[in-house]
This record gives sequence, C-alpha cells and structure tokens, in this order.
Amino acid sequence: MELLTNQLKKIFSENINNIFKQDFSEKINIENSTKKEFGDFQTNFAMMNSKAIGKNPREIATTLVENFKENDLIEKLEIAGPGFINIHLKNNFLNNEVKKIDNEKYDFSFLNVDETVIIDYSSPNIAKRMHIGHLRSTIIGDAIKRILDFIGFKTISDNHIGDWGTQFGKLIVAYNKWLDKEAYEADPIGELERIYVLFSDEAKKDPTLEEVARNELRKLQMGDEQNNKLWKEFIEISLKEYNKVYDRLGVKFDHYFGESFYNDLMPDVLEELKEKNIAKEDQGALVVFFEEDKLPPALVQKKDGSFLYATSDLATIKFRKNELNVDKAVYVTDERQQNHFKQVFEISEMLGAPYNYEKSHVYFGIMRFGDGMIFSSRSGNIIRLVDLLDEAKKQVKSVIDEKNPNIPEDEKEKIAEIVGTGAIKYFDLSQNRTSDILFTWDKVLSFEGNTGPYLQYTYARIQSILRKLKEENISVKNNDIILDDMFDIERELAVALLRFPQTVVKSYETYRPNIIADYLFDTAKLFNNFYNSKSILKETDKKVMDARILLAQKTASILKQGLNLLGIETVDRM
Ligand code: ARG
Repeated sequence: MELLTNQLKKIFSENINNIFKQDFSEKINIENSTKKEFGDFQTNFAMMNSKAIGKNPREIATTLVENFKENDLIEKLEIAGPGFINIHLKNNFLNNEVKKIDNEKYDFSFLNVDETVIIDYSSPNIAKRMHIGHLRSTIIGDAIKRILDFIGFKTISDNHIGDWGTQFGKLIVAYNKWLDKEAYEADPIGELERIYVLFSDEAKKDPTLEEVARNELRKLQMGDEQNNKLWKEFIEISLKEYNKVYDRLGVKFDHYFGESFYNDLMPDVLEELKEKNIAKEDQGALVVFFEEDKLPPALVQKKDGSFLYATSDLATIKFRKNELNVDKAVYVTDERQQNHFKQVFEISEMLGAPYNYEKSHVYFGIMRFGDGMIFSSRSGNIIRLVDLLDEAKKQVKSVIDEKNPNIPEDEKEKIAEIVGTGAIKYFDLSQNRTSDILFTWDKVLSFEGNTGPYLQYTYARIQSILRKLKEENISVKNNDIILDDMFDIERELAVALLRFPQTVVKSYETYRPNIIADYLFDTAKLFNNFYNSKSILKETDKKVMDARILLAQKTASILKQGLNLLGIETVDRM
C-alpha cells in the first residue's frame, strides 16, 4: 500500500503542475496537521514556492484550491493563515486504506532500498563485563537495523568488538600476578574484571607497572605464543558472556569483526595516507592535520610504530567497501566519540574512493543512574546490565502476581521477562537519543505515561477484547470501518494508524527511534480514549460493532509492528 503522504504528493503535483504549468513534483511537502481542526494533513507549498510562481502565497493557495480537480481522496481543502492548505480526507477513502493494513505490504520503493547499509553497534571492549553504558548502543543499533530491514534495505550488523589495545598488556600482567584460579573458573569474566581494576589501583602506587604492561603488549603484537594464547582466551570468555546478554535482548549480529581483524590491513592504509600526503610526520609520529584547524589533529601512528583507533577505523572503512560492498555505514556510539568520527570521516573524504561513501555517526547521550555517575568498568562500582534486566523482570513479576494471580507460573515468568526487558529498551528508545538520560525505576516501569508497560498493556488489553469475542462466538461480518463524524474518535484513530509507515520513514531519515516511540504512545492513547468512550462488546448495532472490532484489530497490529521495530516483543495478557 502506498503511503498516504505519497498519494497526496502525487495528486497535488498533478494539480499543481497542471495549474501553474511548471514541474513542482519535487517541491511538495505534506505534513501532519498540527491540530485536528486543521484537517488531516497540511502543505506549505504556497509559501515555499511564492517566488517561483511570482504571486503571494494566499493567491497561490486560492488558485490551487479553486481549480483542484475532484478526486477520491480529498473531501475538502481549506486555506489557513498566510497560505497553508489544510487537507481533509474522505471517510470512504480512509475506510478503504485502513482495510489494507495487514493485508498489503507498504510500498517503500520511493527510497533507495537497493542499498546495503552496515550498522556498527554494541562494540564493547573485551575482558570487561557489559555494563549499562553499553546498553544504549546495543538497543539503539538494533532498533535502527530493524527499521532499515522493515523498509527493505539490505542490512549488515557488525559488532566492532574492542579486542585489541592497551588493556591487553595490563590484563596479561594482572593475570600473571594476581589471578585467583578458583574464582576464574567459577566466574571468568568477573575475575578478569577484578584483576583489571586491581591493576589500575596498583599502577597508581607503582607507575613502573605501566611499562611492564606496555612490554607485554608489545610481546603480544610481535606474536609471542603465551601472550597470544591468553589474548584468545580472554576474547572467548568475553564473547560467551556478551552473547548471553544479546540472547536476552534478542539482538543478533551478522559479524563480530573486532579491531584485531584489521591489523594486517592497517600498514597499507598508512602507506596510502603517506603517499597522498595526508598524514605528516610530527615529532616522530604520523598525524593528519585538518584545514583551518576545524578538527584537532588525528594521530594515525605513534612514535613506537603502533597504530591507533583512527587507523583501525580507516582500515575498517576500506574493508567494508571492498569486501562487503556497502553503500552506507552507520556507527552507534556515545557522544564522546563525535570528534573521532568527524576526523575519520574527514580523512575518508581526503582519501577518496573506496573510503568516501556515506557515513553517519549516530551518537547518544550518557545514561546516568540515580546519583548521576557515568558507568565505567574502570570504577568497581558499576551496575551490570544483567542485574538490571533481572531487577526489571522481578518488579514486573510482582505486579503480575498481584494483578493476575491466575496466570500459570511459567507463563508469568515469560511475560515478566518480555515486559521487563521491553520496559528497559523502551525507556532508552523513547528518549531523544542525543540527550543524557537519568534512569529511575519509576520512569522505566510505570504502567502509565510514555512507557513500555503502558504500550504492552494497551496491546494486551486489545487481545483480551478479541479473546472475549471468540468466547462469545462473535465474528465480524461487515468489514467496513465506519467513520461518520469528521472529528470523531474512530476517525482520528484510523488516520493515526495510517500514519505508521511515514513515521517509520521519518525515524529512518534521522536515525531517531523515539519518533516511532512517540507515535506508538499517541496511538495507544487514542485507542484507550476510544475504548473508554465507545463500547465494543456491548454495542447493539452490529455494523458499528464490527467496525470497532476491526479498528481494535488494526490498532493491535500496528502496536505490535511498531514495538517490534524497537526490538520489543508483545504479550497477549499481563
Ligand atoms: N569499542 C569502542 C568503544 O567501546 C566502540 C567502537 C565503535 N565502532 C567503531 N567502528 N569505532 O568505545
């Protein structure tokens, strides 16, 4: 099914091109109305094209409205303010469109859906347990992948694991000095974490430890057998632990090409940088300086010959084009890496092909927890992701125990896991991603307001209505959605449901999942208003009852699809 906004664009361009004898097809903007009195959609065409047409906006709007051809979509057009055109759609048209929901696929072919997009997200650093700081990258990245998949892009998800770097020298020293074998067997990553923190503490007292660590790192990089064995062991242990979390979150990756994967590719990149005169020697190191100092210089090779984060990202960029044939890359990390990506993207432009394809850094604010601290595994005092998921589950479970004690225990467990995990994901995704967020349990787990549990509950509420219908053997005979009154709640809900695909496109264009979350919240509120003010099961006019049942079914379907784009499953009761 074609998006409403696209159908309107088409009909507007036919009329406009005909009336003004010029091709304005690319200049027509259709937006949601800001208030329902302003109709269903609005266009500011007259204001935006006043110069090109050579008339004032109100005149243009008047000419357009007076000469607009009768059609099946539009009931009436109104001129408002300086020259806005308010668009009211025909009920019959809306009725037919709503019936297509679930029966026809959305047509997104107007976007470049042939493109292959790689999404680089999660990407934790090895030998540290995943903590809440990784939550946002994993959840936002996964949502972006789902949104792109839904539209029809070919996506590749890559977990760019931090499996190479200075932490390994420190870990090796710590392992050799302080490892508690028993603890390591019982909880390997916990023990690695402990000795890593211990190293930092000890190095503060005895700075020579840092030099010892650098030496171990060098040995590792030169291929020392024992150190390589340890390094592999650390990676294996960490991935095992990460995968447990990914399983719980329902997150899957196509690749786990970590930083080390690019080791052999870096020398060539460096050659290219030197050859093209992009990197220059500066006190023994190799550095890229930027025009007019618009960015701080980027170090690509240290004095001792070792490569850096930027070098490895450049090699990654080249590999992704040459070997995976991507058209675009999306990186999801916290805001502190903005300069890094600006530098790397800028250097890619300087290098030209194959580096210079489209890239976006989708960054997000810091998640603070109660007392305002940033989660870092370097401080011992962290809240772990798994503990967080467990706590959410526990709290949801106790609500279900209270509200719905008759649900069998194993189903309760399942519901609690889905709703608890969903609540945490929704909390994250419903925020403007570039803001810092403060995690508090009330905001995450409330059953009211813009929360995961509220949406889950609305969905389950509809399922319970549909179950009752089944029990009473009520089936829908008439499949028309009746939308009689212009401002009636059914009509409003129907229009909202039809806005779903265009909302997904907006969210894709800005890589902002909260656009979908806001939409779902508004739609759920509309449904609840509708259900609180109109009866479904007790409605005596069978035709009206059928129409309301259909609206409820379509609402459930849209809520489910939308939550799914956010990586959130639904439950039929809770
Ligand atoms: N491992 C990095 C970190 O946790 C994130 C990597 C992001 N991806 C990339 N291609 N640089 O800080």
